[in-house]
Amino acid sequence: MGELRLVELSASTIVAVNNLSLKPGQEQFLAPISYAVAGTVANPATAWQRVVLDDDQVVGFVSANFDVDAPQDYFRSVLWRINVDADDQGRGVGRFAVAKLLEEARDRGMEHVDVIYEAGEGGPQAFFERVGFTPVGETEYGEVIAEIRL
Ligand SMILES: CC(C)(COP(=O)(O)OP(=O)(O)OC[C@H]1O[C@@H](n2cnc3c(N)ncnc32)[C@H](O)[C@@H]1OP(=O)(O)O)[C@@H](O)C(=O)NCCC(=O)NCCS
Repeated sequence: MGELRLVELSASTIVAVNNLSLKPGQEQFLAPISYAVAGTVANPATAWQRVVLDDDQVVGFVSANFDVDAPQDYFRSVLWRINVDADDQGRGVGRFAVAKLLEEARDRGMEHVDVIYEAGEGGPQAFFERVGFTPVGETEYGEVIAEIRL
C-alpha cells in the first residue's frame, strides 16, 4: 500500500466512489433505517464527505454530519457512511478514515462522534469497536448507537 490521503469528493473521484465494491453480504449493512429516515431531512451544508486515496487510486469513502441543531444528540456529530473497496479492506484504510474524521470533529469543537449500525454477521460492528466506538444505546429501529468521546 502507498501513502493514504484524504481528499474532498469531486468530479474526478465521484465515479470511482460510486463504483467502490463490497464483499458479498455487506450490502445489507450500508444504510441503517435511521440514516435513511434522517437523510430525507439532512442539510447538505452540514455534510462532510471525503475520499480516501492510496497514491492516486480511490480506495474508500467516508461521510459524516456535523449539525449542532440536530434533534437527536447522536446525529449532531455522526459518522454517516464508511466504505472501503472490497479489495482494499483489512489494510487499515477504514482506521485511517475514522482517525481523520475524529480530527475533523475535534477541530469543530465536537465532544463526541457517534455511529449507527446494524449488528450482525458480516457487518461492521467488530471494525467500529476495534477503532474505538463503544455501544451506548439503540435507535427506535433496534440499531446500535456507538460513540467515541473526544
Ligand atoms: C467496515 C469497513 C469500512 C472496515 O474498513 P477496513 O479498511 O477493512 O478496516 P481496517 O483495515 O482499517 O481495520 C481496522 C481494525 O478493525 C478490524 N476489523 C475490520 N473489519 C473487521 C471485521 N469484519 N471483523 C473483525 N475485525 C475487523 C481490523 O482487524 C483492524 O484491527 P487492528 O487495526 O487492530 O488490526 C469495511 O469493511 C467496509 O467498507 N465494509 C462495507 C461497508 C460497511 O459496512 N460500512 C459500515 C456501515 S456505513
